[in-house]
Amino acid sequence: MGSGVGVLMVALQHYEQLVGRLASSGQGHVLRFFDELSAQERSGLVAQLESIDFEQLALLCRQGAGGIDWAAAARSAAPPKAVRLSERVGGGNGVWDAAAARQRGVESLERGQVGVILVAGGQGSRLGFEHPKGLFSIGPISNASLLQIHCEKVLALARRYGASVPLYMMTSPVTHEEQLEYLRHHKNFGLPAEDVFLFCQGTMPAVDAQTGKLLMSTKGSLFLSPDGHGGTVAALASSGAIDDMRRRGIEHLFYFQVDNPLTPIGNAEFVGYHLLAESELTSMAVAKQTPQDKLGVFATIEGKTQVIEYSDLPEDVAAERDEAGSLKFWAGSIAVHLFGVAFLERMLSHKDALPFHIARKKVPFLNAEGELVNAREPNALKFERFIFDLLPHARNALVVEYAEDEVFAPLKNAPGAERDTAEYVRRFMVGQHRRWLEQAGTIVSSDARVEISPLWALDAEGVAARHDRPARIEQAVYLRG
Ligand code: UTP
Repeated sequence: MGSGVGVLMVALQHYEQLVGRLASSGQGHVLRFFDELSAQERSGLVAQLESIDFEQLALLCRQGAGGIDWAAAARSAAPPKAVRLSERVGGGNGVWDAAAARQRGVESLERGQVGVILVAGGQGSRLGFEHPKGLFSIGPISNASLLQIHCEKVLALARRYGASVPLYMMTSPVTHEEQLEYLRHHKNFGLPAEDVFLFCQGTMPAVDAQTGKLLMSTKGSLFLSPDGHGGTVAALASSGAIDDMRRRGIEHLFYFQVDNPLTPIGNAEFVGYHLLAESELTSMAVAKQTPQDKLGVFATIEGKTQVIEYSDLPEDVAAERDEAGSLKFWAGSIAVHLFGVAFLERMLSHKDALPFHIARKKVPFLNAEGELVNAREPNALKFERFIFDLLPHARNALVVEYAEDEVFAPLKNAPGAERDTAEYVRRFMVGQHRRWLEQAGTIVSSDARVEISPLWALDAEGVAARHDRPARIEQAVYLRG
Protein backbone atom coordinates (compact mmCIF):
# COMPACT_ATOMS: atom_id res chain seq x y z
CA MET A 1 0.00 0.00 0.00
CA GLY A 2 2.74 2.44 1.11
CA SER A 3 4.79 1.74 -2.01
CA GLY A 4 1.65 2.06 -4.17
CA VAL A 5 1.15 5.61 -2.90
CA GLY A 6 4.85 6.29 -3.53
CA VAL A 7 4.60 5.17 -7.14
CA LEU A 8 1.51 7.31 -7.62
CA MET A 9 3.29 10.38 -6.21
CA VAL A 10 6.28 9.88 -8.48
CA ALA A 11 3.94 9.51 -11.46
CA LEU A 12 2.11 12.68 -10.44
CA GLN A 13 5.33 14.63 -10.04
CA HIS A 14 6.45 13.37 -13.40
CA TYR A 15 3.17 14.44 -14.97
CA GLU A 16 3.35 17.89 -13.38
CA GLN A 17 6.87 18.36 -14.69
CA LEU A 18 5.67 17.39 -18.15
CA VAL A 19 2.73 19.83 -17.94
CA GLY A 20 5.19 22.56 -16.92
CA ARG A 21 7.51 21.75 -19.81
CA LEU A 22 4.64 21.74 -22.29
CA ALA A 23 3.31 25.06 -21.00
CA SER A 24 6.70 26.78 -21.19
CA SER A 25 7.23 25.57 -24.73
CA GLY A 26 3.76 26.63 -25.87
CA GLN A 27 2.58 23.03 -26.45
CA GLY A 28 0.00 22.70 -23.66
CA HIS A 29 -2.77 21.99 -26.20
CA VAL A 30 -1.62 18.37 -26.62
CA LEU A 31 -3.22 17.54 -23.25
CA ARG A 32 -6.54 19.09 -24.26
CA PHE A 33 -8.28 15.70 -24.42
CA PHE A 34 -6.26 14.01 -21.67
CA ASP A 35 -9.27 13.57 -19.37
CA GLU A 36 -11.09 11.59 -22.05
CA LEU A 37 -8.27 9.06 -22.50
CA SER A 38 -7.95 5.57 -21.02
CA ALA A 39 -4.98 4.86 -18.73
CA GLN A 40 -3.21 3.09 -21.58
CA GLU A 41 -3.77 5.95 -24.01
CA ARG A 42 -2.52 8.42 -21.40
CA SER A 43 0.72 6.59 -20.83
CA GLY A 44 1.16 6.24 -24.62
CA LEU A 45 0.84 9.99 -25.10
CA VAL A 46 3.12 10.77 -22.17
CA ALA A 47 5.77 8.43 -23.61
CA GLN A 48 5.55 10.20 -26.98
CA LEU A 49 5.89 13.60 -25.34
CA GLU A 50 8.81 12.53 -23.18
CA SER A 51 10.80 11.50 -26.21
CA ILE A 52 10.62 15.01 -27.68
CA ASP A 53 13.46 17.50 -27.35
CA PHE A 54 11.35 20.68 -27.12
CA GLU A 55 14.31 23.06 -27.34
CA GLN A 56 15.50 21.41 -30.51
CA LEU A 57 11.99 21.50 -31.94
CA ALA A 58 11.63 25.22 -31.22
CA LEU A 59 14.98 25.85 -32.87
CA LEU A 60 13.97 23.90 -35.97
CA CYS A 61 10.68 25.80 -36.23
CA ARG A 62 12.49 29.13 -36.01
CA GLN A 63 14.84 27.99 -38.72
CA GLY A 64 11.81 27.15 -40.93
CA ALA A 65 12.32 25.68 -44.36
CA GLY A 66 15.36 27.94 -44.97
CA GLY A 67 18.93 26.90 -44.23
CA ILE A 68 21.93 26.47 -46.52
CA ASP A 69 22.00 28.50 -49.73
CA TRP A 70 22.52 25.51 -52.00
CA ALA A 71 22.34 27.56 -55.19
CA ALA A 72 25.36 29.60 -54.10
CA ALA A 73 27.16 26.47 -52.87
CA ALA A 74 26.52 24.74 -56.20
CA ARG A 75 28.01 27.67 -58.14
CA SER A 76 31.29 27.33 -56.28
CA ALA A 77 31.33 23.53 -56.38
CA ALA A 78 33.57 21.16 -58.35
CA PRO A 79 32.97 17.57 -59.51
CA PRO A 80 33.65 14.97 -56.79
CA LYS A 81 36.72 12.79 -56.36
CA ALA A 82 35.63 9.76 -58.33
CA VAL A 83 36.56 6.62 -60.19
CA ARG A 84 34.84 6.85 -63.59
CA LEU A 85 33.56 3.76 -65.35
CA SER A 86 35.60 4.56 -68.47
CA GLU A 87 38.80 4.49 -66.39
CA ARG A 88 38.38 0.95 -65.29
CA VAL A 89 36.61 -0.94 -68.05
CA GLY A 90 39.37 -3.09 -69.50
CA GLY A 91 41.52 -3.17 -66.42
CA GLY A 92 41.82 0.32 -64.97
CA ASN A 93 44.33 3.09 -65.30
CA GLY A 94 46.96 1.99 -62.82
CA VAL A 95 46.03 4.49 -60.11
CA TRP A 96 42.67 2.90 -59.50
CA ASP A 97 43.29 -0.56 -60.77
CA ALA A 98 40.02 -2.45 -61.09
CA ALA A 99 41.57 -5.89 -60.67
CA ALA A 100 43.44 -4.79 -57.56
CA ALA A 101 40.26 -3.28 -56.16
CA ARG A 102 38.36 -6.45 -56.79
CA GLN A 103 41.04 -8.56 -55.13
CA ARG A 104 41.05 -6.35 -52.01
CA GLY A 105 37.27 -6.54 -51.83
CA VAL A 106 37.25 -10.31 -52.18
CA GLU A 107 39.76 -10.65 -49.33
CA SER A 108 37.67 -8.48 -47.05
CA LEU A 109 34.49 -10.40 -47.90
CA GLU A 110 36.24 -13.73 -47.34
CA ARG A 111 37.37 -12.55 -43.92
CA GLY A 112 33.75 -11.78 -43.06
CA GLN A 113 34.41 -8.06 -42.56
CA VAL A 114 31.45 -6.83 -44.61
CA GLY A 115 27.90 -6.44 -43.28
CA VAL A 116 24.83 -5.10 -45.03
CA ILE A 117 22.37 -2.43 -43.95
CA LEU A 118 19.01 -2.27 -45.66
CA VAL A 119 16.79 0.71 -44.88
CA ALA A 120 13.11 -0.12 -45.07
CA GLY A 121 11.42 2.34 -42.75
CA GLY A 122 9.89 4.64 -45.36
CA GLN A 123 6.16 5.04 -45.85
CA GLY A 124 6.27 4.54 -49.62
CA SER A 125 3.52 7.09 -50.10
CA ARG A 126 4.11 7.62 -53.84
CA LEU A 127 3.72 3.92 -54.66
CA GLY A 128 0.29 3.63 -53.08
CA PHE A 129 0.85 0.03 -51.91
CA GLU A 130 -0.96 -0.87 -48.69
CA HIS A 131 1.96 -2.84 -47.19
CA PRO A 132 5.61 -2.01 -46.53
CA LYS A 133 7.34 -1.60 -49.89
CA GLY A 134 9.62 -4.60 -49.31
CA LEU A 135 6.60 -6.91 -49.62
CA PHE A 136 5.86 -5.72 -53.16
CA SER A 137 6.08 -8.54 -55.74
CA ILE A 138 8.55 -7.23 -58.27
CA GLY A 139 10.02 -10.41 -59.83
CA PRO A 140 8.95 -10.23 -63.51
CA ILE A 141 8.30 -13.98 -63.70
CA SER A 142 8.81 -15.28 -60.15
CA ASN A 143 6.74 -12.56 -58.47
CA ALA A 144 9.46 -12.53 -55.80
CA SER A 145 9.16 -9.60 -53.42
CA LEU A 146 11.82 -6.93 -53.04
CA LEU A 147 12.74 -8.41 -49.65
CA GLN A 148 13.06 -11.90 -51.10
CA ILE A 149 15.46 -10.64 -53.76
CA HIS A 150 17.56 -8.73 -51.22
CA CYS A 151 17.72 -11.67 -48.80
CA GLU A 152 18.67 -14.08 -51.58
CA LYS A 153 21.44 -11.75 -52.71
CA VAL A 154 22.87 -11.60 -49.20
CA LEU A 155 22.68 -15.38 -48.95
CA ALA A 156 24.36 -15.80 -52.34
CA LEU A 157 27.09 -13.38 -51.27
CA ALA A 158 27.74 -15.33 -48.08
CA ARG A 159 27.91 -18.59 -50.04
CA ARG A 160 30.25 -17.17 -52.66
CA TYR A 161 32.78 -15.93 -50.11
CA GLY A 162 32.30 -18.66 -47.53
CA ALA A 163 31.68 -16.13 -44.77
CA SER A 164 28.63 -14.98 -42.90
CA VAL A 165 27.20 -11.65 -44.06
CA PRO A 166 24.89 -10.20 -41.43
CA LEU A 167 21.86 -8.28 -42.67
CA TYR A 168 20.89 -5.31 -40.50
CA MET A 169 17.48 -4.10 -41.54
CA MET A 170 15.99 -0.83 -40.40
CA THR A 171 12.22 -0.61 -40.08
CA SER A 172 10.01 2.08 -38.55
CA PRO A 173 6.98 1.93 -36.26
CA VAL A 174 4.73 1.85 -39.36
CA THR A 175 6.61 -0.95 -41.12
CA HIS A 176 8.17 -3.01 -38.31
CA GLU A 177 5.61 -5.63 -37.31
CA GLU A 178 4.53 -6.56 -40.81
CA GLN A 179 8.09 -6.93 -42.12
CA LEU A 180 9.16 -8.89 -39.05
CA GLU A 181 6.23 -11.27 -39.47
CA TYR A 182 6.79 -11.55 -43.23
CA LEU A 183 10.44 -12.52 -42.81
CA ARG A 184 9.59 -14.94 -40.02
CA HIS A 185 6.89 -16.55 -42.17
CA HIS A 186 9.35 -17.00 -45.05
CA LYS A 187 12.19 -18.13 -42.76
CA ASN A 188 14.26 -15.10 -43.83
CA PHE A 189 14.33 -16.56 -47.35
CA GLY A 190 17.11 -18.89 -46.28
CA LEU A 191 19.25 -16.51 -44.23
CA PRO A 192 20.23 -17.95 -40.85
CA ALA A 193 18.27 -16.28 -38.03
CA GLU A 194 21.51 -15.20 -36.31
CA ASP A 195 22.46 -13.21 -39.43
CA VAL A 196 19.28 -11.12 -39.56
CA PHE A 197 19.02 -8.15 -37.22
CA LEU A 198 15.84 -6.05 -37.46
CA PHE A 199 15.63 -2.75 -35.65
CA CYS A 200 13.25 0.15 -35.61
CA GLN A 201 14.21 3.74 -36.39
CA GLY A 202 13.11 6.80 -34.42
CA THR A 203 10.26 9.18 -35.17
CA MET A 204 9.78 12.92 -35.30
CA PRO A 205 6.60 14.90 -34.68
CA ALA A 206 5.11 17.28 -37.24
CA VAL A 207 4.20 20.85 -36.30
CA ASP A 208 1.81 23.43 -37.68
CA ALA A 209 3.83 25.48 -40.17
CA GLN A 210 2.37 28.80 -38.93
CA THR A 211 2.44 28.34 -35.18
CA GLY A 212 5.01 25.61 -34.52
CA LYS A 213 2.42 23.72 -32.45
CA LEU A 214 2.56 19.92 -32.37
CA LEU A 215 -0.04 18.25 -34.57
CA MET A 216 -2.11 15.37 -33.22
CA SER A 217 -3.48 12.44 -35.21
CA THR A 218 -5.89 11.27 -32.48
CA LYS A 219 -6.81 12.54 -29.03
CA GLY A 220 -4.19 10.25 -27.55
CA SER A 221 -1.43 10.47 -30.13
CA LEU A 222 0.82 12.99 -31.81
CA PHE A 223 1.31 12.84 -35.56
CA LEU A 224 4.68 11.08 -35.78
CA SER A 225 6.64 9.95 -38.82
CA PRO A 226 9.95 8.15 -39.33
CA ASP A 227 12.93 10.47 -38.84
CA GLY A 228 14.42 9.87 -42.32
CA HIS A 229 17.05 7.42 -43.57
CA GLY A 230 19.58 9.54 -41.70
CA GLY A 231 17.95 8.12 -38.57
CA THR A 232 19.95 4.97 -39.38
CA VAL A 233 23.05 6.08 -37.47
CA ALA A 234 21.32 6.72 -34.14
CA ALA A 235 19.13 3.62 -34.51
CA LEU A 236 22.11 1.38 -35.31
CA ALA A 237 23.64 2.43 -32.02
CA SER A 238 20.56 2.38 -29.80
CA SER A 239 19.44 -1.03 -31.10
CA GLY A 240 22.77 -2.67 -30.30
CA ALA A 241 23.51 -3.33 -34.00
CA ILE A 242 26.88 -1.57 -33.80
CA ASP A 243 27.84 -3.71 -30.81
CA ASP A 244 26.82 -6.77 -32.82
CA MET A 245 29.09 -5.64 -35.68
CA ARG A 246 31.97 -5.17 -33.26
CA ARG A 247 31.43 -8.63 -31.82
CA ARG A 248 31.49 -10.18 -35.28
CA GLY A 249 34.42 -8.17 -36.59
CA ILE A 250 32.37 -6.31 -39.19
CA GLU A 251 34.41 -3.34 -40.40
CA HIS A 252 32.45 -2.15 -43.40
CA LEU A 253 28.75 -1.72 -43.87
CA PHE A 254 27.14 -1.80 -47.31
CA TYR A 255 24.11 0.52 -47.25
CA PHE A 256 21.16 0.34 -49.65
CA GLN A 257 17.45 1.06 -49.92
CA VAL A 258 14.61 -1.41 -50.08
CA ASP A 259 13.22 -0.11 -53.37
CA ASN A 260 16.10 -0.99 -55.71
CA PRO A 261 16.28 -4.69 -56.68
CA LEU A 262 19.29 -4.03 -58.93
CA THR A 263 21.53 -3.07 -56.00
CA PRO A 264 24.81 -5.01 -56.38
CA ILE A 265 24.90 -5.89 -52.70
CA GLY A 266 28.43 -6.28 -51.35
CA ASN A 267 30.03 -5.82 -54.79
CA ALA A 268 33.68 -6.82 -54.32
CA GLU A 269 35.14 -4.15 -56.58
CA PHE A 270 33.21 -1.42 -54.77
CA VAL A 271 34.42 -2.69 -51.39
CA GLY A 272 37.94 -2.82 -52.81
CA TYR A 273 37.96 0.78 -54.02
CA HIS A 274 36.84 1.84 -50.56
CA LEU A 275 39.80 -0.02 -49.07
CA LEU A 276 42.38 1.12 -51.65
CA ALA A 277 41.35 4.73 -51.13
CA GLU A 278 41.36 4.33 -47.33
CA SER A 279 37.96 5.93 -47.49
CA GLU A 280 35.52 6.19 -44.63
CA LEU A 281 32.54 6.54 -46.94
CA THR A 282 32.39 5.40 -50.54
CA SER A 283 29.34 6.04 -52.68
CA MET A 284 28.04 4.53 -55.87
CA ALA A 285 27.06 6.91 -58.66
CA VAL A 286 25.56 6.68 -62.12
CA ALA A 287 26.22 9.22 -64.88
CA LYS A 288 23.30 11.58 -65.38
CA GLN A 289 22.05 11.40 -68.95
CA THR A 290 20.47 14.84 -69.02
CA PRO A 291 20.69 17.90 -66.75
CA GLN A 292 17.03 17.32 -65.86
CA ASP A 293 17.53 13.80 -64.41
CA LYS A 294 16.01 13.84 -60.94
CA LEU A 295 19.02 12.58 -59.05
CA GLY A 296 20.97 14.32 -56.32
CA VAL A 297 24.55 14.92 -57.48
CA PHE A 298 27.85 14.40 -55.73
CA ALA A 299 30.00 17.52 -55.70
CA THR A 300 33.02 18.92 -53.89
CA ILE A 301 32.14 22.02 -51.91
CA GLU A 302 34.90 23.76 -50.00
CA GLY A 303 37.04 20.67 -50.24
CA LYS A 304 34.37 18.28 -48.96
CA THR A 305 32.25 15.76 -50.83
CA GLN A 306 28.53 16.47 -50.52
CA VAL A 307 25.25 15.63 -52.21
CA ILE A 308 23.26 18.48 -53.71
CA GLU A 309 19.63 17.46 -54.08
CA TYR A 310 18.22 17.86 -57.58
CA SER A 311 15.67 20.39 -56.37
CA ASP A 312 18.52 22.54 -54.98
CA LEU A 313 20.68 22.47 -58.11
CA PRO A 314 20.04 25.59 -60.26
CA GLU A 315 19.13 24.68 -63.85
CA ASP A 316 22.10 26.50 -65.38
CA VAL A 317 24.54 24.76 -63.02
CA ALA A 318 22.96 21.38 -63.75
CA ALA A 319 23.51 22.07 -67.47
CA GLU A 320 27.21 23.09 -67.17
CA ARG A 321 29.59 20.99 -69.23
CA ASP A 322 33.35 20.40 -69.19
CA GLU A 323 35.68 20.82 -72.20
CA ALA A 324 34.90 17.30 -73.37
CA GLY A 325 31.19 18.14 -73.46
CA SER A 326 30.22 15.97 -70.46
CA LEU A 327 28.01 17.24 -67.68
CA LYS A 328 30.17 18.82 -64.98
CA PHE A 329 27.89 17.45 -62.25
CA TRP A 330 27.54 14.03 -63.80
CA ALA A 331 27.61 11.93 -60.64
CA GLY A 332 24.02 11.04 -59.75
CA SER A 333 23.51 9.48 -56.32
CA ILE A 334 21.64 6.15 -56.17
CA ALA A 335 21.74 5.94 -52.37
CA VAL A 336 24.22 3.09 -52.22
CA HIS A 337 27.14 3.62 -49.86
CA LEU A 338 29.84 1.78 -47.96
CA PHE A 339 30.52 3.03 -44.44
CA GLY A 340 33.43 2.28 -42.20
CA VAL A 341 31.94 1.02 -38.94
CA ALA A 342 34.58 3.02 -37.02
CA PHE A 343 33.44 6.10 -38.95
CA LEU A 344 29.82 5.52 -37.92
CA GLU A 345 30.94 5.23 -34.32
CA ARG A 346 32.85 8.51 -34.63
CA MET A 347 29.74 10.16 -36.05
CA LEU A 348 27.71 9.07 -33.05
CA SER A 349 29.68 11.36 -30.80
CA HIS A 350 29.27 14.22 -33.28
CA LYS A 351 25.87 15.56 -32.29
CA ASP A 352 25.29 17.80 -35.30
CA ALA A 353 26.67 15.48 -37.98
CA LEU A 354 23.20 14.92 -39.38
CA PRO A 355 21.09 18.08 -39.37
CA PHE A 356 17.33 17.88 -39.83
CA HIS A 357 15.94 18.82 -43.23
CA ILE A 358 12.64 20.62 -43.01
CA ALA A 359 9.84 20.06 -45.51
CA ARG A 360 6.38 21.58 -45.82
CA LYS A 361 3.86 18.77 -46.20
CA LYS A 362 0.12 18.12 -46.06
CA VAL A 363 -0.61 16.48 -42.72
CA PRO A 364 -4.09 15.51 -41.45
CA PHE A 365 -4.57 16.82 -37.91
CA LEU A 366 -7.02 17.00 -35.03
CA ASN A 367 -8.58 20.46 -34.53
CA ALA A 368 -9.54 22.05 -31.19
CA GLU A 369 -12.92 20.31 -31.36
CA GLY A 370 -11.24 16.92 -31.71
CA GLU A 371 -12.22 16.48 -35.38
CA LEU A 372 -9.76 15.16 -37.97
CA VAL A 373 -9.07 17.76 -40.67
CA ASN A 374 -7.54 16.84 -44.03
CA ALA A 375 -5.29 19.67 -45.14
CA ARG A 376 -5.75 20.87 -48.72
CA GLU A 377 -2.48 22.79 -48.82
CA PRO A 378 0.85 22.00 -47.12
CA ASN A 379 0.10 22.95 -43.51
CA ALA A 380 2.88 21.30 -41.56
CA LEU A 381 6.61 21.12 -41.10
CA LYS A 382 8.14 17.65 -41.07
CA PHE A 383 11.69 16.89 -40.05
CA GLU A 384 13.97 14.24 -41.52
CA ARG A 385 17.65 13.37 -41.44
CA PHE A 386 19.40 12.30 -44.65
CA ILE A 387 22.14 9.69 -44.65
CA PHE A 388 24.23 11.48 -47.27
CA ASP A 389 24.88 14.33 -44.83
CA LEU A 390 27.57 12.07 -43.41
CA LEU A 391 29.66 12.60 -46.54
CA PRO A 392 31.40 15.87 -45.67
CA HIS A 393 32.54 14.35 -42.37
CA ALA A 394 34.25 11.37 -43.97
CA ARG A 395 37.96 11.14 -44.61
CA ASN A 396 38.91 10.34 -48.21
CA ALA A 397 35.28 10.11 -49.35
CA LEU A 398 35.15 8.53 -52.77
CA VAL A 399 32.56 8.15 -55.52
CA VAL A 400 32.63 5.16 -57.88
CA GLU A 401 30.67 5.18 -61.12
CA TYR A 402 28.62 2.19 -62.27
CA ALA A 403 26.46 1.70 -65.37
CA GLU A 404 22.89 2.65 -64.51
CA ASP A 405 21.30 -0.41 -66.11
CA GLU A 406 23.47 -2.65 -63.93
CA VAL A 407 22.74 -1.04 -60.57
CA PHE A 408 19.71 1.22 -60.42
CA ALA A 409 15.99 0.80 -60.99
CA PRO A 410 14.09 1.99 -57.91
CA LEU A 411 10.43 1.26 -57.32
CA LYS A 412 8.99 4.62 -56.31
CA ASN A 413 5.85 5.37 -58.28
CA ALA A 414 2.35 4.04 -58.98
CA PRO A 415 1.52 3.00 -62.58
CA GLY A 416 1.27 5.86 -65.04
CA ALA A 417 4.39 7.72 -63.96
CA GLU A 418 7.16 8.24 -66.49
CA ARG A 419 9.71 6.12 -64.63
CA ASP A 420 10.39 4.15 -61.44
CA THR A 421 7.10 2.22 -61.69
CA ALA A 422 6.84 -1.57 -61.24
CA GLU A 423 6.75 -2.01 -65.02
CA TYR A 424 9.90 0.11 -65.41
CA VAL A 425 11.75 -1.86 -62.72
CA ARG A 426 10.77 -5.22 -64.24
CA ARG A 427 11.96 -4.05 -67.66
CA PHE A 428 15.37 -3.26 -66.13
CA MET A 429 15.51 -6.62 -64.36
CA VAL A 430 14.70 -8.59 -67.50
CA GLY A 431 17.15 -6.47 -69.51
CA GLN A 432 19.94 -7.10 -67.04
CA HIS A 433 19.36 -10.85 -66.80
CA ARG A 434 19.12 -11.20 -70.56
CA ARG A 435 22.41 -9.30 -70.92
CA TRP A 436 24.19 -11.54 -68.39
CA LEU A 437 23.03 -14.66 -70.23
CA GLU A 438 23.92 -13.32 -73.66
CA GLN A 439 27.37 -12.22 -72.47
CA ALA A 440 27.93 -15.77 -71.28
CA GLY A 441 26.90 -17.17 -74.68
CA THR A 442 23.23 -18.13 -74.24
CA ILE A 443 21.02 -17.26 -77.21
CA VAL A 444 17.89 -15.54 -75.92
CA SER A 445 15.15 -15.03 -78.49
CA SER A 446 14.03 -11.43 -78.77
CA ASP A 447 10.55 -11.97 -77.30
CA ALA A 448 11.63 -14.23 -74.40
CA ARG A 449 11.53 -12.84 -70.88
CA VAL A 450 14.11 -14.09 -68.41
CA GLU A 451 14.60 -13.74 -64.71
CA ILE A 452 17.47 -15.05 -62.63
CA SER A 453 17.20 -15.79 -58.92
CA PRO A 454 20.24 -14.48 -57.01
CA LEU A 455 20.58 -18.05 -55.74
CA TRP A 456 21.08 -19.30 -59.29
CA ALA A 457 23.58 -16.56 -60.13
CA LEU A 458 24.41 -13.37 -58.27
CA ASP A 459 25.78 -11.44 -61.22
CA ALA A 460 27.24 -11.72 -64.74
CA GLU A 461 30.26 -13.55 -63.38
CA GLY A 462 27.98 -16.00 -61.59
CA VAL A 463 26.05 -16.67 -64.81
CA ALA A 464 29.26 -17.30 -66.76
CA ALA A 465 30.35 -19.81 -64.12
CA ARG A 466 27.16 -21.92 -64.37
CA HIS A 467 27.85 -25.16 -66.22
CA ASP A 468 24.12 -25.83 -66.52
CA ARG A 469 23.47 -22.50 -68.26
CA PRO A 470 20.89 -23.03 -71.04
CA ALA A 471 22.29 -22.78 -74.57
CA ARG A 472 19.10 -21.20 -75.88
CA ILE A 473 16.03 -19.56 -74.34
CA GLU A 474 12.86 -19.28 -76.43
CA GLN A 475 10.16 -18.48 -73.87
CA ALA A 476 9.70 -17.01 -70.39
CA VAL A 477 12.17 -18.63 -67.99
CA TYR A 478 12.87 -18.19 -64.29
CA LEU A 479 16.25 -19.61 -63.39
CA ARG A 480 15.84 -20.49 -59.75
CA GLY A 481 18.43 -21.49 -57.15
P1 UTP B 1 12.21 7.50 -50.03
O1 UTP B 1 12.74 8.82 -49.63
O2 UTP B 1 12.16 7.20 -51.47
O3 UTP B 1 10.79 7.31 -49.36
O4 UTP B 1 13.03 6.40 -49.26
P2 UTP B 1 9.76 6.13 -49.48
O5 UTP B 1 9.16 5.96 -48.13
O6 UTP B 1 10.35 4.88 -50.06
O7 UTP B 1 8.69 6.66 -50.50
P3 UTP B 1 7.79 7.99 -50.54
O8 UTP B 1 8.75 9.15 -50.68
O9 UTP B 1 6.98 8.05 -49.27
O10 UTP B 1 6.97 7.76 -51.75
C1 UTP B 1 14.21 5.88 -49.74
C2 UTP B 1 14.62 4.72 -48.85
O11 UTP B 1 14.81 5.14 -47.53
C3 UTP B 1 14.01 4.41 -46.63
C4 UTP B 1 12.85 3.88 -47.47
O12 UTP B 1 12.28 2.74 -46.88
C5 UTP B 1 13.56 3.59 -48.77
O13 UTP B 1 14.27 2.36 -48.69
N1 UTP B 1 13.57 5.31 -45.56
C6 UTP B 1 13.05 6.53 -45.84
C7 UTP B 1 13.68 4.89 -44.26
O14 UTP B 1 14.15 3.77 -43.98
N2 UTP B 1 13.27 5.72 -43.27
C8 UTP B 1 12.75 6.95 -43.51
O15 UTP B 1 12.39 7.65 -42.55
C9 UTP B 1 12.65 7.37 -44.84
